[in-house]
Amino acid sequence: MSRFGFASTADEVLEGKDLSGRTILVTGGYSGLGQETARALAAKGAHVILSGRDATKLSAAADEVATMTGARVDTLVCDLASLASIRAAGEEARERFAHIDVLINNAGVMAAPPGRTADGFETQFGTNHLGHFALTRELMPLIEKGSAQRIVNLSSRGHHLDRVDFYDPNYRNRDYDKWKAYGQSKTANVLFTRGLEDRFGGQGIHAYAVHPGGIQTNLGRHMSEQDRDWIADRMRKQAEESTEHSPQGWKTIPQGAATTVWAATAEELEARGGLYAEDCHVAAIDDANPVGGVRSYALDRGNADRLWALSEDLTGAKFPA
Ligand SMILES: NC(=O)c1ccc[n+]([C@@H]2O[C@H](COP(=O)([O-])OP(=O)(O)OC[C@H]3O[C@@H](n4cnc5c(N)ncnc54)[C@H](OP(=O)(O)O)[C@@H]3O)[C@@H](O)[C@H]2O)c1
Repeated sequence: MSRFGFASTADEVLEGKDLSGRTILVTGGYSGLGQETARALAAKGAHVILSGRDATKLSAAADEVATMTGARVDTLVCDLASLASIRAAGEEARERFAHIDVLINNAGVMAAPPGRTADGFETQFGTNHLGHFALTRELMPLIEKGSAQRIVNLSSRGHHLDRVDFYDPNYRNRDYDKWKAYGQSKTANVLFTRGLEDRFGGQGIHAYAVHPGGIQTNLGRHMSEQDRDWIADRMRKQAEESTEHSPQGWKTIPQGAATTVWAATAEELEARGGLYAEDCHVAAIDDANPVGGVRSYALDRGNADRLWALSEDLTGAKFPA
């Protein structure tokens, strides 16, 4: 049983740990949860690689993290909405780095207006899932050279909003719904976790999906006033229902990064994976709880295999069998 919970911060989770010698790549590394995750890991001696699509923001964040921690911080430019950029980033990473021990697929976009990635995928499915699927494939040779390897995929309680539509994941023949599209992409993050565990767990590479909590970051940039009111109301009602066993409400950014660093480093997760964590513990499979748990469709092996085949097909990224 984890001794950490809803209110724990990333620093508290990592207290007493020595991460020197470990290389950890964080996507979406220059804002919100990604930057705090990277800072907290670097503060424990990890070599961190911040990845993001904007080179200027990346170097500013890397300088900030390096100054705060004294750790080695590298950057890797990668636009997850472009397969060409992902392939170039993979090639560059394989040239520059000897190994990656932990990959944190943290970047994300939420409730985006209708749109497509460079390769024609719906923006949220394309960026949040397919981009990370292809990047993970590119980085797998480096992960295989790592030790005690883990892959952490940032999902969300938003996965309760929808399953993956295997017939029309890219919204070609149905009306676009920005929240269902977010839900689909976040369910895909959990199914990808399951797929990774099934394929690589046996060789010691374990995968975890994480719901970080509700945290005010740049993720809300696409929300309308109406969306903001809806979320604020929902969070207020949830906070009122908060109990000792099911705390609810907003988290700070340091609290929001806690479950990610827990999944990346916790000893109690050794030799296991293919699971979904929230509030620094493994969440139960639950198809009804509106304020917690992981939906069974998101951990279903048949769905995971189907998504894996679809993702290989769409991206052309084939993992070694
Ligand atoms: N905050 C929450 O309440 C919450 C709740 C549940 C789950 N999550 C998940 O937590 C993760 C981190 O979110 P956050 O709250 O820290 O949000 P954030 O501050 O908006 O950070 C998201 C990061 O993803 C990057 N990103 C977006 N599109 C990209 C692309 N095409 N290529 C590369 N990077 C891209 C952003 O870079 P740009 O600035 O260049 O776009 C940004 O650095 C997300 O996966 C999100 O779904 C957050």
